[in-house]
Amino acid sequence: MAIAPFLAELERLREDASSALRDAGDEAALESARVEFLGARSGRLKAIQKLLGGLAPSDRPAGGRHFNDAKAAITDLLAAARERLAGQGGSAVDAIDVTLPGDPVRLGHLHPITRTIRQVQEIMSRLGFESVDGPEVEDQWHNFEALAIGPEHPARDPLDNFYLAVARGADPLLLRSQTSTVQIRVMEKRRPPLRIVSLGRVYRPDTADATHYPMFHQVEGLLVERGTTMAHLKSTLRFLASSFLGGDGNVRIRPSFFPFTEPSVEVDMEWGGRWIEMGGAGMVDPAVLEAVGYDPDEVSGFAFGLGVERIAARRYGVADIRDFYRNDVRFLQQF
Ligand code: DAH
Repeated sequence: MAIAPFLAELERLREDASSALRDAGDEAALESARVEFLGARSGRLKAIQKLLGGLAPSDRPAGGRHFNDAKAAITDLLAAARERLAGQGGSAVDAIDVTLPGDPVRLGHLHPITRTIRQVQEIMSRLGFESVDGPEVEDQWHNFEALAIGPEHPARDPLDNFYLAVARGADPLLLRSQTSTVQIRVMEKRRPPLRIVSLGRVYRPDTADATHYPMFHQVEGLLVERGTTMAHLKSTLRFLASSFLGGDGNVRIRPSFFPFTEPSVEVDMEWGGRWIEMGGAGMVDPAVLEAVGYDPDEVSGFAFGLGVERIAARRYGVADIRDFYRNDVRFLQQF
């Protein structure tokens, strides 16, 4: 920038400021003039100061001198205007320093787990998965039996579940140990085709450590349609992984066993060059489809269940999932 337009700009600013400050009839007008010309962040003087750097090096000393003169002049005009208003009486200019910063308002935001839940719901909705809820206090049918987890299965052990001291018939209720319960609840009420996702709390009497907590969250997905295959399962998981974690969303499945899927797999996702186990999945076992009155010769389905804390911990670089529940604002503020 050449020096002449710079000086012209400075002169115009000086004139504008001088008439605004002279005309200011009350505190509010004075304050808005102050902000307009002298405001530390986006005042006009500040804007011109930034132009200084664009002057030729030989013009800079002169430009700087003029700039300082203008700034001093405007500051004097402001002080004069203050005195003038104070002299009119009734003014609180001396009592209240309006230039002091105000008390900052502390804004809250969503907990990282709530945010993760909403993000997963949104991502799955793009594939047509409807988000549904189920109860956290469950009966044995929905938590176990309909999922082909028989009476002798170790997963029903009292030491591995929070059974309630409330009987329903002979079957005590329990805090659900998995969100797979919601698969059954939805299939009992609706006919295929079906695409649902359910995110919520589950409970297991685990000792809390960096990767366990007696309460945690799962994301459960279920799709039942004609002609569903493992390929649909894997591409859905990959879509979820790449949408949530970013990058290529590499997903690996390894053979495993769950009573309610056949075949069953463990699901790993790649993040930062490492493979992390995120949960289980598989093709819904025909016995489960029959338990809810579907015809396994007509439709097939896939299901998956992933740990919400696990994917959130990956995404946000949290090493200890207990941090999510300590309610330490210094931790939570970071997200
Ligand atoms: N419910 C299983 C658990 O808590 C996870 C799971 C495995 C869910 C396979 C599924 C599935 O829907 O198909 O360990």
